Order: sequence, then C-alpha cells, then structure tokens
Amino acid sequence: MPDTAQPIHLADYQPFTHLVDRVDLTFRLDPKATRVIARLNMAPNPVRPGRHDLRLDGEGLRLIRLAVDGRPLACQPDATGLTIPAGDLPGGTFTLETEVEIAPEGNTALEGLYMSRGMYCTQCEAEGFRKITFYPDRPDVMAPFRVRIEGDMPVLLSNGNPVAQGPGWAEWDDPWPKPSYLFALVAGDLRAHSDRFATRSGRDVALNIWVRPGDEDRCAFAMGALKRSMAWDEETYGREYDLDVFNIVAVDDFNMGAMENKGLNIFNSKFVLASPETATDDDFDRIEAIIAHEYFHNWTGNRITCRDWFQLCLKEGLTVFRDQQFSGDMRGHAVKRIEDVILLRARQFREDGGPLAHPVRPDSYVEINNFYTATVYEKGAEVIGMLKRLVGDDGYGRALDLYFDRHDGQAATIEDWLKVFEDATGRDLAQFKRWYTEAGTPTVKVFEAWNGGEAGGTYTLTLAQVNPPTPGQPEKGAKVIPVAVGLLNPNGDEVVPTQVLELTGPVQSFRFEGLGARPVPSILRGFSAPVILDHDRTAEDRAFLLQHDTDPFNKWEAGRALAKDILVRMAATDAGPGTRWTQAMAAVARDGSLDPAFRALCLRLPSEDDIAQTLHAAGHVPDPARIHAARRRLALALAETLGADLPGMIAALVPPGPYSPDPEAAGRRALGNQLLALQTRLDGGEAAARRFAEAGNMTDGIAALASLLEAGRGQAELAAFEARWGGDRLVMDKWFALQVAHAAPGDAAAVAERLVAHPAFDWKNPNRFRAVIGALSANHAGFHHESGAAYRFVADWLIRLDPANPQTAARMSTAFETWPRYDADRQGMIRDQLARILASPGLSRDLGEMAARLMG
Ligand code: ARG
Ligand code: ZN
Repeated sequence: MPDTAQPIHLADYQPFTHLVDRVDLTFRLDPKATRVIARLNMAPNPVRPGRHDLRLDGEGLRLIRLAVDGRPLACQPDATGLTIPAGDLPGGTFTLETEVEIAPEGNTALEGLYMSRGMYCTQCEAEGFRKITFYPDRPDVMAPFRVRIEGDMPVLLSNGNPVAQGPGWAEWDDPWPKPSYLFALVAGDLRAHSDRFATRSGRDVALNIWVRPGDEDRCAFAMGALKRSMAWDEETYGREYDLDVFNIVAVDDFNMGAMENKGLNIFNSKFVLASPETATDDDFDRIEAIIAHEYFHNWTGNRITCRDWFQLCLKEGLTVFRDQQFSGDMRGHAVKRIEDVILLRARQFREDGGPLAHPVRPDSYVEINNFYTATVYEKGAEVIGMLKRLVGDDGYGRALDLYFDRHDGQAATIEDWLKVFEDATGRDLAQFKRWYTEAGTPTVKVFEAWNGGEAGGTYTLTLAQVNPPTPGQPEKGAKVIPVAVGLLNPNGDEVVPTQVLELTGPVQSFRFEGLGARPVPSILRGFSAPVILDHDRTAEDRAFLLQHDTDPFNKWEAGRALAKDILVRMAATDAGPGTRWTQAMAAVARDGSLDPAFRALCLRLPSEDDIAQTLHAAGHVPDPARIHAARRRLALALAETLGADLPGMIAALVPPGPYSPDPEAAGRRALGNQLLALQTRLDGGEAAARRFAEAGNMTDGIAALASLLEAGRGQAELAAFEARWGGDRLVMDKWFALQVAHAAPGDAAAVAERLVAHPAFDWKNPNRFRAVIGALSANHAGFHHESGAAYRFVADWLIRLDPANPQTAARMSTAFETWPRYDADRQGMIRDQLARILASPGLSRDLGEMAARLMG
C-alpha cells in the first residue's frame, strides 16, 4: 500500500490554522493544460493562537506561480500539498495567489476537474478540490466564492448566481460561505430544459436542467420532481431556496449517483434522463428520490455542513431520512417503508455483519471515499427515524427548527445534532448516542408469557438485546431500541393499538393486563429499529398476521418471514415447498382490496443473498447452488398454485391509458410483471415473448426480457433490443446488466466474459463497468459458483480499473464482503483473490484499504 495510507482519527481533530474570507478563482479551460488562478483572502484563525505555517492541500498540480500579498514565494509543493512557513506570512490578513496547471482530459479518476465526452465537469466531494488548486480542502473552512471561467464552450456554469458573461467567458458569484467540496464547474455544449419556481417568500428562481443536445425531451420528469421537492421542503421543514438560479447538469461519466454542489447539482445522467420508452418505473422512482435528496442537501449539508468527514452522517443520514419522508408522501408510506427495509437489509445489514462493519460515525479512516456506505447513509437515516419516534413528531419539529436556527452557516458535529434534541425536548441522549459510535446490527430476542385469569389475563413480553462484536469493537453497551408493538386477539381484532416500548437494558419485560385471551403480538411495527428480530414463531402465527395485521409493514413482514422459513428449510434440508406460503400468497395476489404495489412486494421472494444471510445467521453454511434451486422451486410452486388464473390476472392489471409513472399505474405494472414471471415458469416464455413484442414502455419490455432470460430464452429479443437501442448509453447499460443478472449460475462468468469483449463495453465508464462487473457480483449463485471463475473475473477487473479509477474499484470490492459466510473452499478462493489484489503493484489507497479490511 502507498505510504499515504496512514489512518486519520476523529480524536485528532483541530480547527484549521487560518480562515479564508473569500475565494476568487479564474479558470482558463483547456483539455490538456487548464490554468487555475486562485486568490484567497486569508487571516490567522483566532482559535489557534500563535504563528503557524500554512499547509494547503494539493495533488497533481503543476505550480506556476505563488505569491503572498503580491510578493512571489519560492516554496515547492510535495506529493500532497504545499507548506508556506509562518515566517513568510504577515501576522494579520493577507492575500495568497497561486496559478497552477492541470490536465482534465487525462483525469480518469473522475475526481476534481475532468472531461466526460467533451464536456468539462467537477466532482469535489470528498477531497477532489485539492486536484484543482492549492487549498485547505476540509469542510470546516468555509468561504464565499467568485468564479470566472474562460473557455471555448457555449455554456459555462459554476456555483451561485450569474454575474456577467460574454463570448467565451462567464462569471459567477456564490454569496453563501461554503466548503471547497461544494465547488462545481461545468462547461460544454449543453441545452437547458428550463422552468421557474416562486418561493413562498416571493423569490423567483430560474430552474435549468442541462443536458447534451438530443436529451432535452427526457428532462420533464426530473424537473417536476425538483419543483415538488422545493415545495415539500418549504411545507414540511420550512426551508426555502436561497439563490436566483438552480442548475442541474446530467453527466455520463460519474462515480456516484449525484452531487449537491451549491446551486449547481451534478448528476449521473441515469438519475436525470427519463422517458417512458427508455426508463423503467424504478428509474422514475429513483430519479425523484435523488433529485429530492440533492435538493434537500441545500439546507442539510450546504447551509449546515460537517465539521470533518467523520460527521458525514450528519448530512447524509439526515438527507436520506428527508428524501424517504418525501418519497413516502409522494408515493405512499407503506410501500416506501417496505422498499427501504428491503434495501437496508440487503446492503446495510450485510455490511454490518461482515469485515467492513463500521459505526454510523466512524472514528478512523484511511480513504474517506470508502465511507460513503450503506451504514453512513441508510443506517444513519434509521437512527434519525428512531430519534423521531422517541421524541415524537412535535419534539422532532422543535429540534429541527432549533438545529437550523442554531447552526445555519456552521460546520457541525453529531454532538451538536444530539444537543438540539436534548435542548428542544429535555431528553437525555447519552445512551442513544451509541447508535452513532458502535457498529453491528443488534438482535432482539422475544419471549412471551401468558397468564390467563377470571378478571382477564396478563401477557408479558420479554425482550433481550444482543450487540454482536464487530471489527475493532469486541464489546458494546445496550442500545436504546424503540420497539413498536400492537396486540391482536385471536379473531384478528386489534386489542392493543401500536405503542412504543423502549428497550434500554439487556433484558426487559413489558406487561399488558386485562386481556380476554392470549393475544398474537405484532412486534417491531413499521420496522421501528434497525435490528434483527429473533422470535420463534409458528407458521400459523405468521399466516395469521399476514391476514390480520393492521400495520402494513408487519403484514408484509409476516409473509416474508414465512417465505424465509420455508426457503431456509428447503436449502438446508430436502424439504419441499409445502403449501402454506403458496396458498397464502395466492390469496394475497388475488386480494383486490390490497394495493397492487403492496401485493407485488409480498410476492417478491427474498433475494438469494438475503437467504444466504439468513442461513448464516441461523448457523448454517449457505450453499449458493441449493439456495438458487430452492428459490426457483418455490416460485414454481406459487406459479402452479395460481395456474390457469394467471393470464386473466395479468391482463386485468394492465393500467388504462397511456404510460404514466404514477404510483398507481406503476404498482399495477409491478404486480402484473411479477405474475408474468410466474406465468413464464409454466409456459416457457410464450406470454413473455408476446409482452416483449407488444411492450409500449421500458418497464414492460425489460420485465418481459428478464422473464425470458430466466427461462433460458430471449436471444432473439436481446438482438432486437440491441438493434433498437444500440446508440443509447443508458438503455444499453440495461442490456448489459440484464444478461449477467439473469444468467444461469454456471454461465454467469462466461456471459460477463463475452460482454466485456463487446465493442460497446467501455470499462472506463462507471455505469457500464457496474452493468457488467457489478451485475456479476450481484448474481449470487453465479458469483459464488464453485468454479471460482467469477471471483477471478471480478478481481481481474478491479485490478485493471484501480489505476484509472480507484474510487469505483474500491466501491465494487464490497462484492467480497460476505466471504466469512461460506464454506472453506469458497473462503479460500475469495481470500486468494483479495491477496492477489493486495499484491498488485501501485495499488491505490482506496482499494488497498478495502482489500486489507476485507481480509480482516
Ligand atoms: N454527497 C453526495 C450525495 O450523497 C455523494 C458524493 C459522494 N462522493 C464521493 N466521492 N464519495 O448525494
Ligand atoms: Zn447525500
């Protein structure tokens, strides 16, 4: 590993030695030799008394000129920055000028200033600004920026409000002090889809979504989502937009989803561009959620930012929580909550149970980009959901008002965040804070006791929590766990409505008195805490809750648990699918009183990875081939149960009228396409082939194609799809991914191998890389095939990608995070690949840290 790979510790935090009062930047754009001239007005930071050297971050910059108050200095940069000795600095305020040269064209890491198909763009979070100019590149240094761009491009954009422009130049001014990670610049031949939004205090905001010529007609949905987000944040959090323009740019080459740069959000184009022909219902959902997420950052992230990167969850956990609330308001809370929990278990529980487990607020890192994780984001959001449940909606509202009042314009910490809740509600959160500092998913064990009597019986619920060891944290304390519980009587009526039990000790009992009969408990309603519930329940109780529970999450969860119990038994023994789950699900599928989107979620079987996780937790060694076979067998059993009813049910679900991505129509398509997948198991793909040929939108087309591939067919359809969409990058990503995702276990690596030889496979484009290599790691039985071919293939590609794009290589190495679950052969094969990665010459700090942590 490189010698910059020294861990950084939260405990070592110190405020910066100097303050930056303002920043003036001039860019002279050139693909090979862009000049960046920076003028920084600086002063010693009074909280760091004494005279200090000035250390500026800077990487890969050719220093042309350096001057303090106009006086040239001869200091030379080292590999990570530039130190100006205290003796060369005046005691008070001063102006520091630098001129550097950078080469955006050669920047394949997509961090700093880079080029994407002829257009200039930036990505600075977390530490990309230091690849643009010498600067204290840390979030607690905040300053207003003024930017002049000179370049031979029709559209020149930066943060804030436009000040002036002429042919070949533009000037921008951002009055809001911001850290460097929120800086952005875009230049290119772009077209705008424009609109306006009037804030509630009367500011007229110009909205633009900037895209390549030809993509203008795919922006309308994103624009609508932006306006809905702006209105929602005013209504729900009282937060208004604070500039005269809000620009969004769609970029094809992007490491992550999107970035909340002040006034100039930059997006991976797949999270902006959508039309019924090119995007699925899921794409539309994600676009709305990500547009909202980035917009909401304007307050939670930008106006109030993070003191240091250990506090990343301060902005990310809160902003995810806010975008989840928003999506729930737009599309229905029940379905949204279930989808969020599916994702949380698939990604965060998986992370928390393996070698990469870390606290929501980590206390050390080597490369901060490796900590943009499901734990920081999704568990970070869950922790806020628990806080809200504990202090109530009013308390939450008061705490958030106080947070915005008290910390606007500041770089804050988790301590600041918890303090506003304490001050607003009077609640002591010392124990609650462990959710931020301790890793691992707690297990809550449930014990029940019933004591019947003349005057009514007493039901006692005993809850015990276990907090498992995680890397570097062998022991931990009890958490504050809000457990939402309701009780049903044997007829299915709710006798005790939802109440929140607060589990704070290792074991606690809760009594319910005066009950007429032994109740059936519905525990952890709404998934009130990110824990694993360990409750030995009969299949009868699960089926009962699936039928009667008034809490939609737990209604779904009951069916889910039933499916998992069966799948675990089928995969671990020679048991068959039985009839209990299939009968129950056939009833759900036919129940017209239930929302189709909810029914679709019930019918969706747990993923193979989820089943492996469950088997491992139950003390079995998961066998990927058996899991795959069991899951298919259970799906077939459901298909046979619905049998001849399927075609009629599918036809009845087709939404009337032209395509619309609204939740109602999308829900009908989701259920219809799930039934089509079942039908395919009976008719070998006849109905799916017809649906593919007739599909008028991408949702139905992709669903039909996936069903065909599952059935081992679809080659002609793949060719037709390619012929139609070969020129469309986003649609072709789907074409690549689908083939790998639905390849049979023994073929998956070979399919991926064939696809990387396709002329349209561009491994430097992160979306395309993920479409093949990412899809292979997500094909559970294919990735873990006993040959080890997929392990080798993925490792080969990570090693190849790493020198070009370390961030994406490191992120994709999480494919290997589950190795401790599997048998000795697979463990050995995966560890061999990790060792091979670790031994690669020139390994990046990013992938180096990941491989070392994965090894354990
Ligand atoms: N702040 C962005 C978001 O959540 C993500 C940026 C991640 N960038 C990175 N290099 N890790 O919306
Ligand atoms: Zn974010």
